[in-house]
Amino acid sequence: MTFAKTQRLEALPPYLFIEIDKKKRALLQAGKDVINLGVGDPDLPTHKFIIDEMAKAIYDPKNHRYPFDEGVPAYRQAAAEFMSRRFGVTADPDKQILTTVGSKDGISHIPLAVVNPGDVVLVPQPGYPVYNSGAIFAGGRPYVMPLLQANHFLPDLDAIPENIRRQAKLIWLNYPNNPTAASAPLSFYEQAVKMAQRYGWIIASDLAYGEVYFEQPPPSILQIPGAMDVAIEFHSLSKSFNMTGWRIGWAVGNDKVIAALAQVKGNMDSGQFNAIQVAGTAALKNYQHADVKNQMAIYRRRRDVLADGLAQLGWQMQKPSAGFFCWVPTPHGKKSMEVCNQLLDEAHVVTVPGGGFGPAGEGFLRMALTVDESRLHQAVERIAKIKF
Ligand SMILES: Cc1ncc(COP(=O)(O)O)c(C=O)c1O
Repeated sequence: MTFAKTQRLEALPPYLFIEIDKKKRALLQAGKDVINLGVGDPDLPTHKFIIDEMAKAIYDPKNHRYPFDEGVPAYRQAAAEFMSRRFGVTADPDKQILTTVGSKDGISHIPLAVVNPGDVVLVPQPGYPVYNSGAIFAGGRPYVMPLLQANHFLPDLDAIPENIRRQAKLIWLNYPNNPTAASAPLSFYEQAVKMAQRYGWIIASDLAYGEVYFEQPPPSILQIPGAMDVAIEFHSLSKSFNMTGWRIGWAVGNDKVIAALAQVKGNMDSGQFNAIQVAGTAALKNYQHADVKNQMAIYRRRRDVLADGLAQLGWQMQKPSAGFFCWVPTPHGKKSMEVCNQLLDEAHVVTVPGGGFGPAGEGFLRMALTVDESRLHQAVERIAKIKF
């Protein structure tokens, strides 16, 4: 058979991390001690209080059937209570909240619900690649909003040309940000809501890292008056509770947009296993549990080990206030791929080159805080021996 990939698959940007993946695999096969700061996947286990709830839920036969379409009512209720306690935001659990199979499910599918072929989707760069691919799958036209240090890694909304503003249907925002580790102030969200109201945009805010923070708790865009009318926000239990493998999140926002996303998903999947939603309910009800606070303290100590260690080597880096990535300027402004290769070859340390996210990410490396403190110390010691 001659097989040709579809145009929509061909339209995706090339995967720029192939070389690094290959090199990393070769080092591991050669028995080298590789320190992996590349993956954004928590190394810590899911908290016991959540696993205990899952253990009970899995024996309940009513959880063995097809899940409820919009999600288990108790889970959506817990998400609504979380929005109220954490952000002071009122959301109707039946109309304004939808269970998702991890936030990636909602993020990848929302363009199919709100973007017509030819519509512009405003996408931050560097950024989570699914904003771009989701837009392409829906026939949308991604328009890049560069996230630059000079603008605190916020998109400059005023710089978007008038004709693009008018053609745009959806805008992606993600704070705490992957990969730049930046947070957004409420004043930025206010500006975004005003522009969305003026141009008829739907704001999709990705709060996947909203519960991993070291200073002020990051805000929700839904705190801005009027935002519930123009925005949908994606939340995830993956990073907040070390549950990446469980695949559970939720979307909250404008009821018509939520209903449209539910309609897309109703034709794609059959929801998340009810028992996982029951366990997720326990997680959300106990988001201030001592184990969750301890986890944040662990990330904070790791952040300090890496940031202080690199600062002593003369690397200029802003300490992140949230999320578990460090966005580190390359030494002497060298190309990110070059430094990344040097770190792999000479220190056996895996990082992600910012240039792999697109030109706006060039000059930076992403380092994840998903290894323990002693390994981070080791990574810094190894990096100290390299001549850049
Ligand atoms: C910015 C961002 N959003 C969303 C996700 C998806 O997370 P999940 O589908 O596990 O909720 C990720 C995962 O790495 C991410 O980095």
